Amino acid sequence: MHSQMISKSLLGLLLRTCCLLLFLLTVTAAKSASSKVRVFDVRKYGAVADGKRDNTKVFLQAWKEACQWRGKARIYIPKGRYMVVGPLPFVGPCKGYMMVQVQGSLIAPYGLSKNNEDSWIRFQYINGLKIFGGGTFDGQGASAWKYRKCTHNCRNLPVSIRFDFVTNGLVQRVRSFNSKAFHINVFGCKKLKFKFLEITAPDDSPNTDGIHMGHSNEVTVYDSHISTGDDCISIGPGSFNTYISKVVCGPGHGISVGSLGKYPNEEDVVGLIVRNCTLKGTDNGLRIKTWAPSPPSIARNFTFEHIFMDNVHNPIIIDQDYCPSGSCGHQSPSQVHIHDLTFKDIWGASGTKLAVDLSCSSRVPCRNVKLHNIHLSYKGNSRVSTSSCSNVEGTSYGHQIPPSCIA
Ligand SMILES: *[C@@H]1O[C@H](CO)[C@@H](O)[C@H](O)[C@H]1NC(C)=O
Ligand SMILES: *[C@@H]1O[C@H](CO)[C@@H](O)[C@H](O)[C@H]1NC(C)=O
Repeated sequence: MHSQMISKSLLGLLLRTCCLLLFLLTVTAAKSASSKVRVFDVRKYGAVADGKRDNTKVFLQAWKEACQWRGKARIYIPKGRYMVVGPLPFVGPCKGYMMVQVQGSLIAPYGLSKNNEDSWIRFQYINGLKIFGGGTFDGQGASAWKYRKCTHNCRNLPVSIRFDFVTNGLVQRVRSFNSKAFHINVFGCKKLKFKFLEITAPDDSPNTDGIHMGHSNEVTVYDSHISTGDDCISIGPGSFNTYISKVVCGPGHGISVGSLGKYPNEEDVVGLIVRNCTLKGTDNGLRIKTWAPSPPSIARNFTFEHIFMDNVHNPIIIDQDYCPSGSCGHQSPSQVHIHDLTFKDIWGASGTKLAVDLSCSSRVPCRNVKLHNIHLSYKGNSRVSTSSCSNVEGTSYGHQIPPSCIA
């Protein structure tokens, strides 16, 4: 009886050890499966790189299978020119981490699309995404920009790449050329990084913003070159904790917060750092613009520092009287409250005499605006540039060219 008990407990121990071993083995196997990358080469799905035949369906099929893979999936688009008529919706949620390696060029069709889509390529509802590879997204915008100047029967032009509800994303070393509308639009995203991007469109191309974002948290843009006909980076309502560093902009309209206050119940814009950037020959440098009149909202906690202006028309500008078509009537001032702003170490050449223009709302004056070490000369002369303030409360210290207008 005693020995029977011992053998029973021994058996139990053995069983448990076995179970544990089995469990450990399964876990390790699962782990190695998920860390191993499965490649989905678009050529296997029938992609043709002749620049003519449409690859939309082929890319979608590759995405569909990759998205079902329970591990890291890498869609591979090798060198070559791939016509993609679009729209191309890369939609999740996916079972694992998604990578898209683009070495080739994706070419958008000429002219207008049939169905008036808002985007050409779209990444949506994805948690864990990396796009990389040195490839190009060519929007063929020159064939469509003329349709923006329409008066009736107007059609949307598509954004080249949209990111909607993407979390934990990284987009690096890719190029976007000649988008028909914005190059990149970010909406509802969280922790999305852009790095080493090259975004290019001519300075007279309409509405070709480099990166526009809104309703997103922790979007970062690093080490990128953006030349466009419109805003380099624009930060719209609902942008929180945005970080922009080492970006070179120009030509174009510069780095812009706004326009804010166009619609009722807009989300605030909170937390923005723009650091170590260069603006070259842009219309504006650092701009905040709000409509007048506008419903109440808040834009706060922005830091702009170490920014070089190379012949920028309005290097530092707050415009709370924004009304591009002149139809607002200015019945009442903007109610977007701008506060806690720092401009630090901003230097270079202004393309106009008025280098610092802070035109805040008479209803809700800008509060706690700091100017710290500003040196903006005009035509090589540091004695002629000027600054102008209305409804601004704050402080200035350190070097001030032009002389600060903050009391
Ligand atoms: C201001 O923004 C910075 C950077 O986005 C953030 O770290 C900080 O917590 C914010 N502070 C406040 C008071 O919102
Ligand atoms: C940004 O510029 C400042 C001043 O030029 C420099 O001290 C700092 O190291 C730079 N930061 C980065 C991240 O390059």
